[in-house]
Amino acid sequence: MTKILVATEKPFASVAVDGIKKTVTEAGYELVLLEKYTDSNSLIKAIAEVDALIIRSDKVTKEVIDAGKNLKIIVRAGAGYDNIDLNAATAKGIVAMNTPGQNSNAVAELALGMMVYISRGCFKGVSGNELKNKKLGIHAYGWVGKMVANIAKGFGMQVYAYDPFVEKSVMEKDDVKIVSSVEELYSTCSYISLHIPANEKTKRSINYDLLSKMPKGATLINTARKEVINEDSLQKIFTERTDFKYISDIAPDCHNILVSKYEGRYFSTPKKQGAETAEANINAGIAATKQIVNFLKNGDRTYQVNK
Ligand SMILES: NC(=O)c1ccc[n+]([C@@H]2O[C@H](COP(=O)([O-])OP(=O)(O)OC[C@H]3O[C@@H](n4cnc5c(N)ncnc54)[C@H](O)[C@@H]3O)[C@@H](O)[C@H]2O)c1
Repeated sequence: MTKILVATEKPFASVAVDGIKKTVTEAGYELVLLEKYTDSNSLIKAIAEVDALIIRSDKVTKEVIDAGKNLKIIVRAGAGYDNIDLNAATAKGIVAMNTPGQNSNAVAELALGMMVYISRGCFKGVSGNELKNKKLGIHAYGWVGKMVANIAKGFGMQVYAYDPFVEKSVMEKDDVKIVSSVEELYSTCSYISLHIPANEKTKRSINYDLLSKMPKGATLINTARKEVINEDSLQKIFTERTDFKYISDIAPDCHNILVSKYEGRYFSTPKKQGAETAEANINAGIAATKQIVNFLKNGDRTYQVNK
């Protein structure tokens, strides 16, 4: 019988597991659950007999992939897929997918919540700033960026965006101002919300050159990945500019330094929690399962991320 393994160090909510199980059973397949495992050997053992794998932030290394003798497809229930060794999957003809859009609203709401929090001095009883009429730059206009733009307009922010891979007409339709370069985005907007993926081109790309261009009241919001930030530049900007603020969904490596020196101007969530809502959990888990069923039954490769 076709087996689908759900391997989650940090499990899905039980209601999401129920939904996954229902979809798997209705398709005539068997669900194998590996939750709260503590070392990769458990995953290597569990993957040996299964046809498909659903993961969250779990690491799928070459070693794991090589152990999947019958493995045909891996689906990351979520947006980022930098936790899968795509080259190893491709080399073995295994399809890798993500589930785009399923957790975007959760991340977008967090981004706006973080903007309010940092702009109001981390709720420490001090006078802060409002978001209304401020210029917000959306750095990458994908699923999350688009939703952040939409919510920010409700706050009365002026929304700008930069994404060289998205058709201008998409942003124009959303009534978002388009800038022609990343430098223009940073020199125009006092708030920048990051939504770029972490890849070879973007890692450490948010550097001194860009950050130093930001106008007074510079506030950087990072719900993307910590790796996209050049942390030496970040520390330099904090030292040079007393107006600079940074809020991040996951601590940078220099967290302890920032916490000790820049109270009220820096905050990071203790654990990545952008997608940690019941709704996102259910949406992503069920979407991953449906994508697997559709691939195994109909060969549907929509959302494949390794080609
Ligand atoms: N904090 C969290 O829990 C959480 C949850 C979901 C996603 N994320 C992160 O947020 C990122 C965005 O998520 P998404 O769902 O919007 O992804 P997405 O794939 O829909 O959007 C990414 C966008 O980045 C653009 N892009 C790629 N390279 C670029 C570059 N060099 N310059 C400008 N734009 C570039 C792409 O054109 C695309 O529109 C993910 O890659 C992931 O790392 C974090």
